[in-house]
Amino acid sequence: MSNAENIDWGSLTFAYMKTDYNVRCTFKDGKWGEIEVTQDDHINIHMAATCIQYGQEAFEGQKAYRGRDGKVRLFRIRENARRIANSARGIMMEPIPEDLFVKMAHMVIKLNKRFIPPYGSGAAFYLRPYEIGITPRVGVNPADEYTFGIFGMPVGPYFKRGLETCKVAIYREYDRAAAQGTGCWKVGGNYAAGMRATHRAKSNGYAAALFVDPTEHKYLDECGPANFYAVKGDIYITPKSSSILPSITNMSLQQLARDMGYKVECRPIAVEELAECTEAAECGTAAVTAPIEEIYDHANDKTYRFGNKVGPVTLALYNRLRGIQCGDLPDDYGWTEFIDVD
Ligand SMILES: Cc1ncc(COP(=O)(O)O)c(C=O)c1O
Repeated sequence: MSNAENIDWGSLTFAYMKTDYNVRCTFKDGKWGEIEVTQDDHINIHMAATCIQYGQEAFEGQKAYRGRDGKVRLFRIRENARRIANSARGIMMEPIPEDLFVKMAHMVIKLNKRFIPPYGSGAAFYLRPYEIGITPRVGVNPADEYTFGIFGMPVGPYFKRGLETCKVAIYREYDRAAAQGTGCWKVGGNYAAGMRATHRAKSNGYAAALFVDPTEHKYLDECGPANFYAVKGDIYITPKSSSILPSITNMSLQQLARDMGYKVECRPIAVEELAECTEAAECGTAAVTAPIEEIYDHANDKTYRFGNKVGPVTLALYNRLRGIQCGDLPDDYGWTEFIDVD
């Protein structure tokens, strides 16, 4: 068990840390059972469970922040609940009822309240919900029984010294997901499939691989664990594709961009169109937005440059979204919900 009293919140990274409790619930005999609260961070499952043999697994990620007012806020958690239910249906798993998901998310935060980072540290309490098929099967078939669980831990600020730019690379010889496959769901297999490209990108000094569409290899898709957007004149453009995950952060940034007077276009974006853009960024729960300085298109040995300082649109979007998440700015859309931890 980690000692929460000695944590240096500002120097935390994005890494597993054992906290006090995690929660689980099992679907068996056609219904979800009682919620189990445990200190055990292992799961005892059959070696032939469908999650192990056939990748029947889906997960989520979301953060809770303590505000200046001392209150703990969770961001758009019902969107995560709907997305994991959708992911579950996509790979023939039992969908988790939305209210059960939200109840368990609140429980994990309350039960681990001493691990919630203080306001101003830049750190957050990260929730990792997951669902696995646990029925033993040797033939390829969905399970009858599922375990849904949530664990959580404090994670450090993505940017330790204010927004920093990153470089990403496009390698058209790797696809993360098929056009009509599982890319729009948050299932483990997509992440395994993306590891080779990401490994190559990182080995060559890039922060991430930027995938293109798996049919024509011509249009931008998304980064390994984040969506993509660019700014072109007064337009926020973001890829429309059947093989990308609908990002809750991207959805929120689109609304904020509209509020700032920008048009929003969600459509296929050809790689070459990057030459007409002034800003580009990754977006997702981890960083909110990570401004991109350079996109290297390996197939054409061409680099698109956006400058090594965060652009004004990305900076404004970042400040607005972080402000809402921490309670520093008004939450006009009712995106945050309070967790009663005391
Ligand atoms: C593949 C992928 N795309 C996009 C995102 C960003 O989604 P969100 O903004 O909901 O975190 C994530 C992270 O969850 C992801 O794993």
